Amino acid sequence: MPEPIVGRLVVVGIGLIGGSLALSLKTAAACREVIGVARRRETCEQAIELGIVDRAEVSLESVLPELGEGDVIFVAVPTLAVQGVFEVLRDRLPAGVTVTDGASVKGSVVEAASRVWGRLPEFLVPGHPIAGSEQSGVTAARDDLYIAHRVILTPLAETAASHFQRVERMWQAAGAEVLTMPVREHDEVLAATSHLPHVIAYGLVDTLAHDAENENIFRYAAGGFRDFTRIASSDPTMWRDIMLANRDAILAAIDLYSANLSELRGAIATGDSDRLMGIFTRAKAARDHFTKMLAKKAYTENMQEQEVTFIARPGGAVSGSLRVPGDKSMSHRSIMLGSLAEGVTEVEGFLEGEDALATLQAFRDMGVVIEGPDNGRVVIHGVGLHGLQAPPGPLYLGNSGTSMRLLAGLLAGQSFDVTLTGDESLSKRPMNRVADPLREMGAEIGTGPEGRPPLKITGGRELHGIDYRLPMASAQVKSCVLLAGLYAEGETSTTEPAPTRDHTERMLTGFGYEVQRDGPRASLRGGGRLRGGRIDVPADISSATFFMVAAAIAPESEVLLEHVGINPTRDGVINILRAMGADIELLNRREVGGEPVADIRVRHAPLAGIRIPEAQVPLAIDEFPALFVAAACAAGKTVLTGAEELRVKESDRIQAMADGLEILGVRAEPTPDGIVIEGAGEGAVFDGGTVDSLGDHRIAMAFAVASLRARDTIRIQNCANVATSFPDFVRLAQRAGMNLAQE
Ligand code: S3P
Repeated sequence: MPEPIVGRLVVVGIGLIGGSLALSLKTAAACREVIGVARRRETCEQAIELGIVDRAEVSLESVLPELGEGDVIFVAVPTLAVQGVFEVLRDRLPAGVTVTDGASVKGSVVEAASRVWGRLPEFLVPGHPIAGSEQSGVTAARDDLYIAHRVILTPLAETAASHFQRVERMWQAAGAEVLTMPVREHDEVLAATSHLPHVIAYGLVDTLAHDAENENIFRYAAGGFRDFTRIASSDPTMWRDIMLANRDAILAAIDLYSANLSELRGAIATGDSDRLMGIFTRAKAARDHFTKMLAKKAYTENMQEQEVTFIARPGGAVSGSLRVPGDKSMSHRSIMLGSLAEGVTEVEGFLEGEDALATLQAFRDMGVVIEGPDNGRVVIHGVGLHGLQAPPGPLYLGNSGTSMRLLAGLLAGQSFDVTLTGDESLSKRPMNRVADPLREMGAEIGTGPEGRPPLKITGGRELHGIDYRLPMASAQVKSCVLLAGLYAEGETSTTEPAPTRDHTERMLTGFGYEVQRDGPRASLRGGGRLRGGRIDVPADISSATFFMVAAAIAPESEVLLEHVGINPTRDGVINILRAMGADIELLNRREVGGEPVADIRVRHAPLAGIRIPEAQVPLAIDEFPALFVAAACAAGKTVLTGAEELRVKESDRIQAMADGLEILGVRAEPTPDGIVIEGAGEGAVFDGGTVDSLGDHRIAMAFAVASLRARDTIRIQNCANVATSFPDFVRLAQRAGMNLAQE
């Protein structure tokens, strides 16, 4: 038997918190003996009867002489009673014993310790298990209370590492996740997230209970009242203590809440529907985000901790009609221009992926009222070009380069300062390509080392138009400069070295803003206005690509991809696949809201390797991971050049694909600006194996498609970011006939 983590555990106060720790450690065989201490003999007897403790005493003094090195005293009494327990310990605590507690306020515990000992003792490890419930008392104790719950430890500078580690391991053995935090931060965070809700719940129930009509009120109170006030049946003594012990932080939280409540009152009083929608939509978004975080589904810093692996089993074919999600580029722009327009903009077909949602959240943070998204429908209450407000903190843009680069342009001419941040991948991407031209226009922009994020944009700068020649073919850079141009004095123009997606130019025109276009040059004059309207976002050709390639490479496949945007600046994938011999038909071609759209039918046909024309590269820039898979299945060599931009996407896509292809047994030679792939032609082309998508959505989906022509299962690691552009990919791939699962 391994040595238990704790020798004897003495639980002072055998209620829900103390009793549950005792039970958890006993179940986990993580301590040698549990001794309970409770003031009432009845509680002691109950605790023994329920098997919570091995024995119990009414006085702590009598237990202390037996204790020694490796034993732990857990003080689980109401916050203000902690000092009394410390006084008992003062002159009687044997050396080597660890003292920890479970009080909800840490500042008062630390103050009590310094009053009692005249210093902060090295054996004290203040802690707080966040696992309370409105139930209390010894009978409520459970051995699973702490499983997957958090425990915050607030060690002090004086706390000895050995005592800290003992407490940390003890909580881990109980199934909890242990976090550490400074005392003050703990008390402020808890004041806002736990203590304030209790103040409000107790206050609300008390208000209603005093009402003369209370019988009726309680009789008709529905689920909302029950959910909202559940915590008002918590232990009153405990909560009285918490209010007194954490007074200052709770007062600050109440004041902030009162100010917000009066704002809400004002909006109701004056019938200010916009303001009400603003408060409610922001709150709903925050609450939904929280629900997703709890379910570990949110794309936040947390999401990167989440491991998603695709298991793609070999073989199969794809068939059927599919509508892939809305175009990512247009979804971003619909929120941006809709927010800056005058009047309401209604969007249909909006991509509810994490990237576009990051843009949406950014504008909500800048005071724009946005309803939805709800089944692809978003309603934006535009604030006009000068109506944005300073956000409360940095705008976090997740994985989305488009959000960061386009926003940089839009925000360079605002009156307020703003900081743009992103996840690990975005934080490595080059931003000087936008910061340089914006500075030329008069903006003040700070970047991290080597021009990486975060971007710090200083407000109140006067911008002037420039005539900008883009050094690389990038729609993001072009769009950034044109969007800054909306705020610039005079004319702003861009000239691109090769055509790139022109959704910004088209959508600006759709919003009634005049954009002059002449070959590679686009220009506009600052100081105009945007008018809100309707936007119909077609399906994203970049997402459709995975099914186009799937059908092209898998024998007996035929898919119809519905309502796909086929803007000529985006159709490189169709041209390249056709040049390789793919059977692609465009049906029902039409124009929707200024963008060409079609249904795309793809049938399996043998492919042959080609030299990809460089002019097609910017028109297919996001489609190369999937195209490399097609190239591996084609007969002969495929050569790509002029595509160095692929090295600065969500990952270095040339290297990431070359590495994965090599693992799967395909000969692929990366070059500085492209790749040479030796295609195998017929039959199974890919070996089974484990590849890493490096958190790049398109790499992940490309290797999933490869499984259609694999000999064995392909495991693809780090696939959580597929949710940035194609949240429903696995389900749609399964529906089409692929044997894909998620782990
Ligand atoms: C995009 C432009 C492209 C593309 C990205 C979306 C846009 O980036 O890769 O996915 O919406 O403007 P670059 O401008 O960096 O080529």
